[in-house]
Amino acid sequence: MPRHIAIIMDGNGRWAKQRGMDRVMGHREGVETVRRIVEECGKLRIPYLTLYAFSTENWNRPQYEVEALMRLMSAAIRSEVPKLMENHVRLNAIGHLEDLPQVCQEEMSEACQLTAKNDGLTLTLSLSYSGRSELKYCIRKLAQQAIDGAINPQDIDEQTITNSLYTNNIPDPDILIRTGGEQRISNFLLWQIAYTELFFTPVMWPDFDGQHLREIIYQYQNRERRFGKTSEQVQQENLDGTQK
Ligand code: IPE
Ligand code: IPE
Ligand code: MG
Repeated sequence: MPRHIAIIMDGNGRWAKQRGMDRVMGHREGVETVRRIVEECGKLRIPYLTLYAFSTENWNRPQYEVEALMRLMSAAIRSEVPKLMENHVRLNAIGHLEDLPQVCQEEMSEACQLTAKNDGLTLTLSLSYSGRSELKYCIRKLAQQAIDGAINPQDIDEQTITNSLYTNNIPDPDILIRTGGEQRISNFLLWQIAYTELFFTPVMWPDFDGQHLREIIYQYQNRERRFGKTSEQVQQENLDGTQK
């Protein structure tokens, strides 16, 4: 089973448009999908789920849509806490959270605190997040530490960078799913997905369900992750592993 699934939840706007509805209705429906997928991941005992909810670039959308998204987010976070507790979900947020409206920040930090001791799924929401901006803040932090004499630039290795990102205590995703048919990364988790298995589905996010998720996990289980090695090496290692 995968340890960490990351999802670019795309297609809300088109889903609504296809039905002659306002884009915001698609986002509303998208919240239902989040609930469904969180529950499914809990049932499947997936330890980490990371959702791309709002990108740094999404601030450039029409103001009414941005405001509606923020309101929807605050309301959803508040109303979901009992359900999160019931399902043992620990809520977490990554991104430049200072950009979010004050109420949103407060709802988020309160919900994170309330669920901090849960030992089930770790649900991470990416809010005002982009991979490049995450790397920018990471580099600034390391540069400052070097100036302060706390670290030697020669000692900065891949682990140092991994540990300085928002995702420092989360393993790299095994699976990245993008719904909505586009085949691009749109600035999500750039460093972390170096060896992630990618899945693109035409299903719009409001229509995505547990069955779609299980089918992707099944496909994942039939892929050979070689991490640069040959197929023969990987098969030998698997054999050695089962014999141990
Ligand atoms: C994803 O759906 C949700 C957010 C980016 C917040 P979209 O709103 O991008 O939906 P489409 O791509 O326009 O259909
Ligand atoms: C990516 O979707 C961001 C989120 C799902 C939050 P977008 O709809 O913003 O991506 P682009 O603009 O199509 O690349
Ligand atoms: Mg989109």
